[in-house]
Amino acid sequence: MTELTNLRTYISAFVTALPFSFFLLWSWRQRRLNIQDTDMAQASTKTVIIIGGSWAGINVAHGLLKEVPSAKVILINPSDDFYFNIASPRLVAKPNDIPREKYIYPIVPLFNKYANVKQNFELVLGKATSLDLHGKNVIVQDVNNGTTKTLAYDYVVLASGSTSNATTGTGSFQVPFKQSGTTEVEAELKAAQEAIKSAKKIIIGGAGAVGVEFAAEVAEAHPSVEVTLLTNSDNVLVNLREPTRQKAAKLLKQKGVKILTGKTVTSASKDSAGKWNVVIADGQTLTSDIYVSTTGVLPNNEFIPSSLLNKNGWVEVNNHFVSKADSSVYAVGDITQYSARLVSRISGQVPVLISNLKADITGNGKRAAYKDDPSLMIVVPIGKSTGTGQTGSFTPPGFLVSFVKGKDYFTGSGKKFIAG
Ligand SMILES: Cc1cc2nc3c(=O)[nH]c(=O)nc-3n(C[C@H](O)[C@H](O)[C@H](O)COP(=O)(O)OP(=O)(O)OC[C@H]3O[C@@H](n4cnc5c(N)ncnc54)[C@H](O)[C@@H]3O)c2cc1C
Ligand SMILES: *[C@@H]1O[C@H](CO)[C@@H](O)[C@H](O)[C@H]1NC(C)=O
Ligand SMILES: *[C@@H]1O[C@H](CO)[C@@H](O)[C@H](O)[C@H]1NC(C)=O
Repeated sequence: MTELTNLRTYISAFVTALPFSFFLLWSWRQRRLNIQDTDMAQASTKTVIIIGGSWAGINVAHGLLKEVPSAKVILINPSDDFYFNIASPRLVAKPNDIPREKYIYPIVPLFNKYANVKQNFELVLGKATSLDLHGKNVIVQDVNNGTTKTLAYDYVVLASGSTSNATTGTGSFQVPFKQSGTTEVEAELKAAQEAIKSAKKIIIGGAGAVGVEFAAEVAEAHPSVEVTLLTNSDNVLVNLREPTRQKAAKLLKQKGVKILTGKTVTSASKDSAGKWNVVIADGQTLTSDIYVSTTGVLPNNEFIPSSLLNKNGWVEVNNHFVSKADSSVYAVGDITQYSARLVSRISGQVPVLISNLKADITGNGKRAAYKDDPSLMIVVPIGKSTGTGQTGSFTPPGFLVSFVKGKDYFTGSGKKFIAG
């Protein structure tokens, strides 16, 4: 009897408790959902502005659209086209060698494959002119009409890269080794191609990989043009191994390129007769129809606060690609302090940046760390069928350099570098 009463008490307690338990369960679930909702809401409002739409910036945009689909991605670039700049020595010297669609790629269609592209991706055509770290916004100047607008960010990725005096035409005949950001690259290419075709004497100052490749392309395309390559060192390709340097010099001479060593260019300018006067540190002045400077790279940092830059003007990042001075600022590619400024490095940098940015935005995922590779792996075509380079202590034979790069300057497989 008592047992029955007990059972009844249990049952009634259970029946009373049941709706209460359901309520508890429901409200707990609801709280969880609310938390998830606010997580989602916060995540979906995170805006990442990428400044610079080239090798680095385009690949960061791909990484975000793939890995952090909730983020809003704004890519700022002066041009709506990507320029396969590493083929420029060939493009300038041999206008008809590579078809246009292999070196100019419209940027927006590269992202059409993402389901969220319409809502979450925007290409803003313009130049960032200032970066306000406190207000977290970027001022962008429209390329066509010069008007400015202010865009707010949660995170900004600096991918504005580097330029050179030849690219901007500063103390040098203008050669589009990169996009200048001010004029259409195709117009610049055409102007350079025409002038080189009608020149009799060309001087190239600086014998790094760009100077060597360019001298070889011009000499091969125009055997009657006198091409002189100046180096301030004792031979070309100063950072590379001796066998590579000697091989390069030998192949250049075979193409008719004159190499002058120990020549430091102090200035160069075009006179009223249209000739270039190239002043050398030893007091000598050389003259030519065209002078092209390939003496080094310059950071595209005019809009970047100096607190983010090292003493040479590059953005100082940690091994997560986060600015050492501001944790909302990332940077990648040529604009960072990492001094091997090569496309081949960017492919290792972008995934590290994405893993960290993803962790910042979503709170999930493993943070990868970047380890810079001190070895220099490089192939330097000398014309279409030969060249040199180095991978470790190996100097690749000419036919291999031609096969890997010289035949088409990578343009045959160009799209794979930027298609995501
Ligand atoms: C002639 C030449 C040959 C090369 N060959 C090779 C090679 O064979 N292999 C290799 O690995 N590397 C090579 N390199 C190096 C390679 O080109 C660079 O490492 C690469 O371009 C760096 O990419 P990036 O995206 O960091 O910057 P960049 O390519 O310099 O691009 C920067 C982008 O940012 C934009 N930008 C700049 N300022 C602003 C602003 N204020 N607002 C908005 N946008 C801005 C620019 O217009 C540009 O689109 C070569 C370089 C040159 C010049
Ligand atoms: C400038 O051009 C942009 C598009 O490129 C446009 O949105 C803007 O309204 C223009 N501004 C003026 C003042 O013409
Ligand atoms: C670029 O040109 C300026 C002005 O002529 C010169 O001072 C500077 O050293 C040059 N820089 C490089 C990297 O060529």
